[in-house]
Amino acid sequence: MSEQNLFKVTIDNISIEVPAGTTVLQAARLIGGQVAPPAMCFYSKLEGSGGKCRTCLVEVSKGSEKDPRPMPKLVASCRTTVMDGMEVKNITSEKVLDARAGVVEFLLLNHPLDCPICDQAGECHLQDLSFDHGKAETRYEFQRRTFKKHDLGKNIQLHMTRCILCYRCVFTADQLTNKRVHGILDRGDHAEIATHIEKSLDNEFIGNVIDVCPVGALTDKTFRFKNRVWFLKPMDAHRDCPTCSGRVTLWNRGDEVYRVTARKDQWGEIEDTPEGQPGWICNTCRFDKKATADWIIEGPREISRQSVIAQGHYAGQIGTTKPTEIFAAVNGGRTPHLLMDIHDESEVNQPNIYLGKIQGPSHGDTFNTNNTHKA
Ligand code: SF4
Ligand code: FES
Repeated sequence: MSEQNLFKVTIDNISIEVPAGTTVLQAARLIGGQVAPPAMCFYSKLEGSGGKCRTCLVEVSKGSEKDPRPMPKLVASCRTTVMDGMEVKNITSEKVLDARAGVVEFLLLNHPLDCPICDQAGECHLQDLSFDHGKAETRYEFQRRTFKKHDLGKNIQLHMTRCILCYRCVFTADQLTNKRVHGILDRGDHAEIATHIEKSLDNEFIGNVIDVCPVGALTDKTFRFKNRVWFLKPMDAHRDCPTCSGRVTLWNRGDEVYRVTARKDQWGEIEDTPEGQPGWICNTCRFDKKATADWIIEGPREISRQSVIAQGHYAGQIGTTKPTEIFAAVNGGRTPHLLMDIHDESEVNQPNIYLGKIQGPSHGDTFNTNNTHKA
């Protein structure tokens, strides 16, 4: 058996030996912590990803043992492979931090600041990136881009204004489905995610585009506006699924399942199954299995990624106990003097309609007699 060729690379003064062909980003992830540059477009489970967003820029202060000259410009660590004796600076380089602040500014030029109503808030990579590297103000004076709305079908919501054109969803559709029906149309500031002629994304594995999207451009319609992720309790669960690994994270409040996602690692990427395959999940598990009885619960999931969820009040708690209702808690134990039941007061709402089953916010049509949202 041939011995593996190992290269020594030093990143932010920490040395590690990695197999030849490893990228600087992957070597930095092996060291871990803040040494790992942020990555908005690279996704280790997707072939060909990376090289689009420039958030992973690093400074190579020594090229290799044989040729110690520094690289003249900052390089994208997700696309640069290590050389033996290479020395790299990430957070120890002023140049890198300055360039990254510039990249964040560019990414936010057209990105709407609608975090208060965005379902991705709390687990958005752009939010984390802006928090770590962004500036408080913008120099941009023009109107942000707007797009014609595209309907991608009953399960996936597209908000093109939030898209950072990372291509992850395109690679996912290419590599997980037989026929990709969406892609990036047009070029430059006209570039957008669309299906050209209005089509739904309905392949059985297409729901994974929601998990790979680093921002809130692609979100789950069955979860839209239902809850904030930091109020939910992530639980590892599995089922015997004939289509996928069936290994998921349930996002519960009490024993009510609000959404189902694949399990993600500390880099926000799909976790591997015990067999070493990426744990992509099918649409049936993601969108249709919303009852606790559909799942075998394994236990609470710790969210290790830097995120508001990790600090969540409910993360890591055992069991599926419904959290304390907040009204009495903030009112010194007192309950309201008058509890009004909306159904006593108005005919507008109907108690036999289960709001949890509605796709998105309710409106007049929801309460038409022929609706399908009955409990
Ligand atoms: S929709 Fe999301 S995953 Fe797709 S290109 Fe835009 S940001 Fe990337
Ligand atoms: S993560 Fe390297 S360029 Fe986007």
